[in-house]
Amino acid sequence: MINNPIEAKKNRIIETTWAEEVRYSMKFLDSSHLEEAKELQDIIARNLPDKEIFRLTTIQELKELLEQQKSVIGVHADDCLIAYNIISIPGEDEDNFGADIGISSEELAKVAHLKAVVVHPNFRGHGLQRKLARIHLEVLRDAGYEHVCSTVSPKNCISIENHLANGFVIKGLKVKYGGWLRYIMYKNIYKPFRPGLEVIAVEFTDIERQKNLLKRGYVGCKLEKSSNRQVETYSINFGLESYY
Ligand SMILES: CC(C)(COP(=O)(O)OP(=O)(O)OC[C@H]1O[C@@H](n2cnc3c(N)ncnc32)[C@H](O)[C@@H]1OP(=O)(O)O)[C@@H](O)C(=O)NCCC(=O)NCCS
Repeated sequence: MINNPIEAKKNRIIETTWAEEVRYSMKFLDSSHLEEAKELQDIIARNLPDKEIFRLTTIQELKELLEQQKSVIGVHADDCLIAYNIISIPGEDEDNFGADIGISSEELAKVAHLKAVVVHPNFRGHGLQRKLARIHLEVLRDAGYEHVCSTVSPKNCISIENHLANGFVIKGLKVKYGGWLRYIMYKNIYKPFRPGLEVIAVEFTDIERQKNLLKRGYVGCKLEKSSNRQVETYSINFGLESYY
């Protein structure tokens, strides 16, 4: 719960339903927001419990993405940028995650990436990652994209859960970004995933078993948390891939 009431500037408000105390504004960002986006990312970087969890966006990437319409959505509380979500279109780039999960070469042009999302540590717990992703999924649907991919560290339980809640499944597991293990999350905008009856639960640390299931056509679709001697751990439920 955030205690300081913050008055957002009226002309910026397109959504005003943050708890009772705080009003916030959400809008697409452009090049004029480069400095504040960079500052927010610096705060995120300083607060990461493990730097492997989040691949920082380079300044050049940020600059280029802010120049593209609707690629970055930002959330302001008062005049302060407290969250943003970035999408990107990989096209024929070699880093098209669609290629990592077997999307055919003809379909790669319809792939979009959820590239990065950050929420200021003092403003977490309001579901902003999910909300921002949902808005961007609408943008991508309107623009004719069908396949949405994202990479998430197996250590980033919160982000995995938020992706699954938005209808993504775990469809790949690869080493990316020069040595960091990443799930490739996938959502088909037009065909929601349909969970089958068979469920195989795998400890999140059992990477080899997960890789094996993914190879056999299973996808990760649910996170189960458990507490053992006050240590929180989780397992992932895998089911056979099937879409409506
Ligand atoms: C991942 C991230 C964007 C999620 O932020 P968010 O949308 O505010 O998170 P949620 O609203 O879903 O929060 C769910 C719960 O997790 C908690 N939480 C969120 N992020 C947390 C974090 N990094 N550390 C500990 N707890 C966290 C929230 O307080 C909330 O708890 P509650 O249910 O008891 O209130 C945010 O943690 C973040 O910016 N992390 C660093 C960058 C990152 O990992 N980005 C994603 C890369 S794929």
